[in-house]
Amino acid sequence: MFYRVGQLIPVFAGLLFAAGSATAAGTGSVKTGKLVYERYCLSCHGAEGNGQGEAAEYMAVKPRDYRQGTYKWRTTPSGSLPLDSDLEHTLLNGLHGTYMPTWRALDQRSRRDVISYIKTFSPRFATEKPQDPIVIPPDPGYSDASVARGTAVYKKYNCSQCHGPGGQGDGPSAHELKDDWGNAIVPYDLTKGHVKCGDQSTDIYRVFMTGLAGTPMPTFADSMSSADAWDLVHFIQSLSPGYAKNMMAAAADRKTGATQ
Ligand code: HEC
Ligand code: HEC
Repeated sequence: MFYRVGQLIPVFAGLLFAAGSATAAGTGSVKTGKLVYERYCLSCHGAEGNGQGEAAEYMAVKPRDYRQGTYKWRTTPSGSLPLDSDLEHTLLNGLHGTYMPTWRALDQRSRRDVISYIKTFSPRFATEKPQDPIVIPPDPGYSDASVARGTAVYKKYNCSQCHGPGGQGDGPSAHELKDDWGNAIVPYDLTKGHVKCGDQSTDIYRVFMTGLAGTPMPTFADSMSSADAWDLVHFIQSLSPGYAKNMMAAAADRKTGATQ
């Protein structure tokens, strides 16, 4: 009987949240979130959520303007709003190489509350639902053969147009790029051993399959197979020993509960 299915879903969803990790999405309090925001986020992101806090003018990479609901680091497809768990992931990891710090020191409740609050700056969250997250198949494992295939994938999709032949962010289009907010933006230097958001292989994978909204970094989800995408992750990881080191350090952190 169909009505039973509808009744069961909330129960299952509840169980999933209860059993989920500390990063599971939850609905926080907007009221408390405003206090957290005023204390920790306002100086950069601004009282109006427009990314123009007083510290912003000194930064080359500007704090996010929340009013459009445009978020770069998501597990949801191109064009979609992020999930709360995506924003939580960003707060836990910070954005490497920018002024956006990690907020691990805040307790999880405060992170959820502030996430609920920043969503109120964009009317989209009241009228749209985020799409389902993309499916990321397990990492088949780093190997020389995969790196060699990934080198070809990098050529095939012309990543070098922006990121340069050696991945250093110096391709022919690198100097003429702007983001949706009108600021100049540079293609990431892939030889640094870190991407901006997260240190896991899956953090690199999702970048090609979701794109970074508001930036020229496109999604390749329509044309790239998951096998090609994993080879590409391994090619990028081959550009610096830092990737493996940072991935292990992040895993050790999680084991000791440092991300809670
Ligand atoms: C010292 C400045 C600074 C502070 C303080 C700060 N941020 Fe940021 N934040 C940034 C910058 C800069 C970016 C943009 C980085 C980029 O796009 O590469 C950013 C981006 C973000 C993003 C966007 C991620 C995406 O997917 O696009 C979120 C969400 C965010 N910050 C949340 C917060 C919250 C919540 C707080 C307070 C708890 C906070 N930030 C405090 C500087 C700051
Ligand atoms: C039209 C230019 C352009 C093309 C083509 C392009 N990128 Fe990017 N890419 C960018 C820009 C710009 C950024 C930086 C975005 C930011 O820092 O906000 C970026 C960022 C990235 C990042 C870092 C993400 C992070 O979390 O910091 C990775 C990884 C990446 N690109 C991989 C690729 C790969 C692989 C391809 C080809 C399949 C590709 N890009 C094609 C412009 C491009």
